[in-house]
Amino acid sequence: MSDIIISPSILSADFANLESELKALKEAGARWVHIDVMDGHFVPNITIGIPVVKSLRKITDLILDTHLMIENPEKYVEAFAKAGSDVITFHFETVKDISHAAEVISLIKSLGVKAGISIKPKTPPEEVLSLLDKTDLLLVMTVEPGFGGQEFMHDCAMKIPVIKENAPESLIIQVDGGVNNLTSKICTSLGANSLVAGSYIFKNDYKKAIESLY
Ligand code: DX5
Ligand code: ZN
Repeated sequence: MSDIIISPSILSADFANLESELKALKEAGARWVHIDVMDGHFVPNITIGIPVVKSLRKITDLILDTHLMIENPEKYVEAFAKAGSDVITFHFETVKDISHAAEVISLIKSLGVKAGISIKPKTPPEEVLSLLDKTDLLLVMTVEPGFGGQEFMHDCAMKIPVIKENAPESLIIQVDGGVNNLTSKICTSLGANSLVAGSYIFKNDYKKAIESLY
């Protein structure tokens, strides 16, 4: 088995049946599940919040990989940690500067949760290189955050080798947006070791789709 972490995004799941969706993902081989939290300010969409994470924690032992697309992430990370998130990723664009980002990473880690930092398509990877030895995960967005089902931005994937070259061996390099059986190979060959996929998995047979990403 590959050591690539697949994190299916439930943004494309049936929200009326999340318990059965998570069971189906687990049976299909997933160990992580990606939860897209949007606030209608940082991104032009509103999705899942703290109560849903809390409810999901009660019914699954999948790793809850929480992607915060919200302003002022430091105000909310404790609530997401208490709700049961295992990984909390926030956006570099939502903090003032590198030292603020480092503070949010430390705060997340102090809650006993893995910390992640994400960069939008227009943010150069060079801006976060000094954080790579502090964070557990670096998420490269390959679409503009806000919606599932968008097309993979190839230019963004070229950030992966820059991150990889400057990262400790232990860093999880995750890609999110437009990941399918073809774009997944581009990402992993460039050095990514975690793939988020929403519409591709949920539009297909979950098991076959997950297996086709490796
Ligand atoms: C977009 C989200 C993604 C989204 C990916 O802002 O962060 O996680 O669910 O969806 P697909 O895989 O359909 O591009
Ligand atoms: Zn996401």
